[in-house]
Amino acid sequence: MRPLRSLSSRLIVYWIAGSLVTFFALPPILNLAMSALSLFEPETNLESWTTRRARTLVAGALRKDEVGAKFIAMTDDLRIYAAANPAFRYAALEIGSNAPLRGSSLELTPYFQTLHGLDLHAAAFHLEGDPNPDARGLERTMNTPVGRAKIIVYGSKFHWDDVFYQIYSSFTAVGLMSYGLLASVVALIAFAVVREALAPLRAVAAKVSQIDVNSLRQHIPTDRLPAELSPFIDAVNTALRRVDDGVARQKRFTANSAHELRTPITVLTARVEKLETTPLKLDIQRDVRRIRTIVEQLLVLAQISEKGVTAASAPNTIDLVEALIAIVADLAPVALDNHRYLELEAPSEPIYIPAYRWAIESVVINLIENALRAEPDNGVVLVRATAGAVIEVIDHGPGIAPPERGMVFEPFWRGGDDTPGTGLGLSIVRELVEKMQGSIAVDETPGGGTTFAVQLPLCDASTAPRGGPPQNGEMRPR
Ligand SMILES: Nc1ncnc2c1ncn2[C@@H]1O[C@H](COP(=O)(O)OP(=O)(O)OP(=O)(O)O)[C@@H](O)[C@H]1O
Ligand SMILES: [Mg+2]
Repeated sequence: MRPLRSLSSRLIVYWIAGSLVTFFALPPILNLAMSALSLFEPETNLESWTTRRARTLVAGALRKDEVGAKFIAMTDDLRIYAAANPAFRYAALEIGSNAPLRGSSLELTPYFQTLHGLDLHAAAFHLEGDPNPDARGLERTMNTPVGRAKIIVYGSKFHWDDVFYQIYSSFTAVGLMSYGLLASVVALIAFAVVREALAPLRAVAAKVSQIDVNSLRQHIPTDRLPAELSPFIDAVNTALRRVDDGVARQKRFTANSAHELRTPITVLTARVEKLETTPLKLDIQRDVRRIRTIVEQLLVLAQISEKGVTAASAPNTIDLVEALIAIVADLAPVALDNHRYLELEAPSEPIYIPAYRWAIESVVINLIENALRAEPDNGVVLVRATAGAVIEVIDHGPGIAPPERGMVFEPFWRGGDDTPGTGLGLSIVRELVEKMQGSIAVDETPGGGTTFAVQLPLCDASTAPRGGPPQNGEMRPR
């Protein structure tokens, strides 16, 4: 059987099982123990269980014969009970006339027929002259299958099975109703308490579900949680700290390795530069450039995770127009060397965005490098910025087929090996843009080619500096 997974269901099931035993079985068992220790009057409990059982048996045995006369039938239950109690005597009298019904023990009936002027409904008695001084009797007017009658029992003795009878007979309608009410109220309380106590866990779960490899340094609070859950949450917090330390060590390793590789690559570039110009030199130069790109990209990736690069944590408000002017100014000569042109179209007013300058440079340079590679000879790659902080990099190359547009952002995905590259550029671009709370889209340039559009958040009006042209004002857009 599947164990119950819900804590409330478990509580309710265990409560019902436990309370059924305590509510119905425990009172007789306690009574028994206390009677055994003589904490009760001898008549009150065990005696009363015995006589109650005896009179119920006798009342249940009343029948009517063919002519309508009532009598006590010798039922199986009564026979068994009488066999176990040799001194047991019983009788039943008509109400009013006190006439004994057939089957009554005639030793008992005379005492109850002479009660002139007294209508007994219930009486405990002991027959004088009975050699057993503890023998008890009971007369009681009761409902029977043939109507009301006076039932008299005498001389039955306590037996252990009376305990089970007592437990069985405690399942009365009133008992069951009271128990049902109690069980429902307690079940409701258990359900409400569990729900209320575990409500903070939902908030904790929401927080934990947001943790990823870049936000491991979190402390899950245990304030409002039940104390029983604290060891678990503490263990999660400790595990998070350990994983965070491990990840930080790995990131530092990548960053350090990339950093350490820069110097030998620079030395290598300088040495290759001195070689005689041969096809081999050009090959080696291309390979060294590729290695340098990989190392630069790895460094950017390390910076992304190290600095966080979220717009919220960005320490600078930068002017996007000024940053684009500087980037285009740097790359335009490279483009020209490769027989391509690079143009910038931007508003004359600054566009202030919250970002790291290096992150913006990385995004735009990656997009421009891709565009320059795709652009045909003597073509123009256009970088356009609009006042809503949208940067578009537009080329007129072969374009990217629609099914591949989603894949270009995957790490190491490359359209082909005709151009040099590692396939990391666009995945870095997307990560940086998303970290800056922006978005990136790729579309077809009207007339052919590819347009990458990056939307970045603008600065709040309150944090944007007022007035003043960008410092690099000499290179205005066309
Ligand atoms: N403007 C573009 N026009 C056509 N295809 C493009 C363009 N930009 C990217 N692609 C395709 O997407 C692939 C992935 O680009 P990405 O910038 O991620 O890697 P890469 O340029 O090949 O290498 P890296 O940028 O790491 O040096 C490219 O190889 C190319 O096939
Ligand atoms: Mg690229």
